[in-house]
Amino acid sequence: MRWALTFSNDLTTQYFMKFFIDTANLAQIAEAKELGILDGVTTNPSLMAKEGITGKSNIYKHYKKICDLVEGDVSAEVISTDYNGMIKEGKELAMIAENIIVKVPMIKDGVKAISSFTEMEISTNCTLVFSAGQAILAAKAGATYVSPFIGRIDDINWTGMQLITDIFEVYSMQGFDTEILAASIRNGLHIVDAAKAGADVVTCPLDAILSLLKHPLTDLGLQKFLEDHAKAAK
Ligand code: E4P
Repeated sequence: MRWALTFSNDLTTQYFMKFFIDTANLAQIAEAKELGILDGVTTNPSLMAKEGITGKSNIYKHYKKICDLVEGDVSAEVISTDYNGMIKEGKELAMIAENIIVKVPMIKDGVKAISSFTEMEISTNCTLVFSAGQAILAAKAGATYVSPFIGRIDDINWTGMQLITDIFEVYSMQGFDTEILAASIRNGLHIVDAAKAGADVVTCPLDAILSLLKHPLTDLGLQKFLEDHAKAAK
């Protein structure tokens, strides 16, 4: 994809940012899907807990429901933090559906696990990424996606979006094909800025996606069109 951008004259149409929804809420996933713009879903243990889904069996059943609802990639995060546990869990998660992406934290055993999953041809999303150095390790290990957390960096008064710019520059320069998945998105401006910074994917809460629709001039313009139409019909 980044290669397409570099040689954009004849290949620009191949480059566009994917939209994932960042939730485990089935109704919200369905609402985003109805817009016709949904390319996938990301979840994490906090989002599953928010839906009240507990216990391995229920959690796996819920992942299956999400995977049945969307055609695109669905990130499902391992809970284990040791290599053997992550490998066992990742293999189980990958068995749930073909579109499962095993989400692995950016820790030492996580990088090791991603390398092994790459050899096993199991797709991965390296999560909790807060630096370009971490993103290089994820890419070297063969992660399918890397998830830099924009909002959480903003929360500590640093500039989250700069991380997308930095990773994009490094990956482009080095030819890494790991996709940059801008995560921890808080609002519509984050979505636009992630697109400008070169993110391959943006994963957002539903309200951030819907906020892109809003502009007062659109509302005023529509109101005027409808009023003029009604007047002319009299
Ligand atoms: C997605 O993969 C992340 O888990 C998520 O975007 C984190 O977002 P938050 O910082 O709003 O919890």
